[in-house]
Amino acid sequence: MTIPEILREKVLSALEALEVALPDPDRIQVTKAADLRFGDFQSNVAMMMAKPLGKNPREFATELSEKISDEDLCEVSIAGPGFLNFTLTPAAWANLARAQWESADLAVTQVDAAQTIVVDFSAPNVAKPMHIGHIRSTIIGECLSRVATKVGHKVIKDNHIGDWGTQFGMVTWAWKKGVDEARLETEPLQELLRLYRLASDASKEDEAIKEECRAELVKLQQGDAENKAIWERCLALSRKGLDKIYDRLDVSFDHWMGESAYNDALAPLVEKLLENGQARESDGAVCIFSSESGKPKADPFKINRDGEWQDFPMMIRKSDGAFNYATTDIATVEHRVNDWQADHIWYVVDFRQGGHFSQLFEASKRLGFDQVNLVHVAFGTILGKDGKPLKTREGDLPQLEDVLNDAVKAARMIVDEKSRLDTVEEKAELAELIGVNSVKFTELSHHRMSDYVFDLDKMVALEGDTAPYLLYSYVRSRSIFRKLDEKVTLNGGNLQLTGKAEIHLVRMLSRYSDQVHQVLDDYRPNLLATYLLELARAFHSFFEACPVLKSEGQTRESRLILCDLTSRVLKDGLNLLAIPVPERM
Ligand code: ARG
Repeated sequence: MTIPEILREKVLSALEALEVALPDPDRIQVTKAADLRFGDFQSNVAMMMAKPLGKNPREFATELSEKISDEDLCEVSIAGPGFLNFTLTPAAWANLARAQWESADLAVTQVDAAQTIVVDFSAPNVAKPMHIGHIRSTIIGECLSRVATKVGHKVIKDNHIGDWGTQFGMVTWAWKKGVDEARLETEPLQELLRLYRLASDASKEDEAIKEECRAELVKLQQGDAENKAIWERCLALSRKGLDKIYDRLDVSFDHWMGESAYNDALAPLVEKLLENGQARESDGAVCIFSSESGKPKADPFKINRDGEWQDFPMMIRKSDGAFNYATTDIATVEHRVNDWQADHIWYVVDFRQGGHFSQLFEASKRLGFDQVNLVHVAFGTILGKDGKPLKTREGDLPQLEDVLNDAVKAARMIVDEKSRLDTVEEKAELAELIGVNSVKFTELSHHRMSDYVFDLDKMVALEGDTAPYLLYSYVRSRSIFRKLDEKVTLNGGNLQLTGKAEIHLVRMLSRYSDQVHQVLDDYRPNLLATYLLELARAFHSFFEACPVLKSEGQTRESRLILCDLTSRVLKDGLNLLAIPVPERM
C-alpha cells in the first residue's frame, strides 16, 4: 500500500470510530499536499462531511485528527477551514526509503490487469530519409512503450512504415533514368533522396512526367518484375539507413509491418464492406459514409462547408481501383486485433492526421472492432527560432541525421570545455551520448501537444532543464562510491533521516511509482521528465546540505543509501525515456 492509501484507511477507521455514516468511499481522498509547509499529505474529508452531519468543520477535523494521530507514522494538524494535514515522521520516511531501496523494481507497482498494447510509432515513408518531424513520434513512442512494459503490460512495437506509396513511382522513374550504383553503396539514403527529388521536381514542372511516375507505380502494384526488383532494393537500402538511426537513438521494434504487408488483404476487405453495406460506391470510388445516427458536429464523416453539414466520406478504393492509406489502416486494425489480440492500439502520429484517425476509429467500431481501445497520441510541431516550423536554409525539413550530428557537435564543445575525461575517444563517446540524448530529452520534456522551439545550445547546456543536467546528477550520485577507500556493505535497517534535505529527497524518491503510472493517464512522458528534474534538484540540495563522506556511522551509511537509491531511480527513469547514462563525465 502507498502512504496515501494507508492514510486513507486510517481516515476511514477514524470515521467508523466516530460512528458517522460514511459517504461514497470514493469521495474520501488523501492526496499529496499542495503546500509542503503544512504537511506531506492532505484531505478535505472533514470539510466535505461536516455540513451534512451538522458539525463545525474545524471541530470535526479535530475529532478526526485525535483518532488518526499515530506517533510512528504521522502527525495530524488542522489548517484553514478544516483541512487535515499529515506530516510523516522521519522514521516513516526512513521505512519508505528502505522498502524502495530493497525493492528490485524501486517500488514501482504493477497494474492489476495487464493489457496487450500495440504501439504504432515512427512509421516514416521510406525511400526518403527521416526528417526532423519523425523525431517526435519515434521518441514519444519508444518512451510510452517502455513505460507500459515497466508497469506490466504486454507491448508490441510496430513500425508501420510507408513502403507502398506514390514516392515509389517517382523513385522508380528516376532510377531508370540513371541511378548512381556507386553512391548507392556508400550513401544509399542520399542517393534515393536525390532520385526522389529529381522526379518530384520534374513532375511538378511537367504533367507528362507526373503521368510517367504514376504509371511506374501502377506497374509496381500490378506486379511488374523489374519495378518490383527496384522497389525491393529501395526497401532493403532504406532499412539499412533507418536501422542506423534507430541504433543511435536506442529505439527498436518488434515488427516492421509496413503498408505493403497488407496488400493482399485490401481487395477482399473492400468487397466484404461493400457486401455487408458498410461501404458504398460513389462516383466510381468506394467510400464509408456517416451512419447518420449522431450529431453532425461529433461525426467524423460530416464536414461543415459554408454553414452547411455535408458528407465527408472515407475513401477506401479510388475510382481507378487503387487502394489508399485509409484502406490499409483498416486492414491493419483487423490484423492487430485478430492476430495479436490487441486490447489497445496507440497511434503516435502528428496531430494533423486527427481527421483520418477519427474516421478510422469510428469505421473500425462499426466494423465490429469495438472492444479495442484506439487512441491517437497526437503531437505538435517543432519550430525554428523564428517561431515557424523548423526548415533548413533551402526550405526543406532538416534531415534527422544532420540534426543529430549538429547536436553532437554542440555537445562536443561543452565536453571539451568541462569534461574531466582523459582520452579523445572517451570525449567523443560522451559527446555522442550527450548530443543525441539532449535532442531526445528536449522532446520528452515538452507537453506533446505544444509546439517547441528547437534550440541546440540550450539543449546541451549543463545548466537548465536539460539532459546534461540529469546525466551529471546521476554521475555525481555514483562518483561518491568511487571515492570510498573501503568497500562498504549497506544495510537498509540502519536508515535514519535527520535533516530536512534528506527528508525532501526521500519524499521525491517515494513519488517515483506514481509518476511512472501517471505517464500513461494521458500519454505524457513530460510528467516523468519533469519529475526526474525535480528529483535531481532535491538530490543536489541534499548533497550540498548533508556531507556524506565526511559524516560518520549511521548518518554516513544512511546518506550513502540515499545516494545509491537516487542513482538507481535516475538511471531507471532515464531508461524509461530511452536515455542511457554514462558512469563518468
Ligand atoms: N507513414 C505515415 C506518415 O509518415 C505515418 C503512419 C502512421 N501510422 C498509421 N497506422 N497510419 O505520415
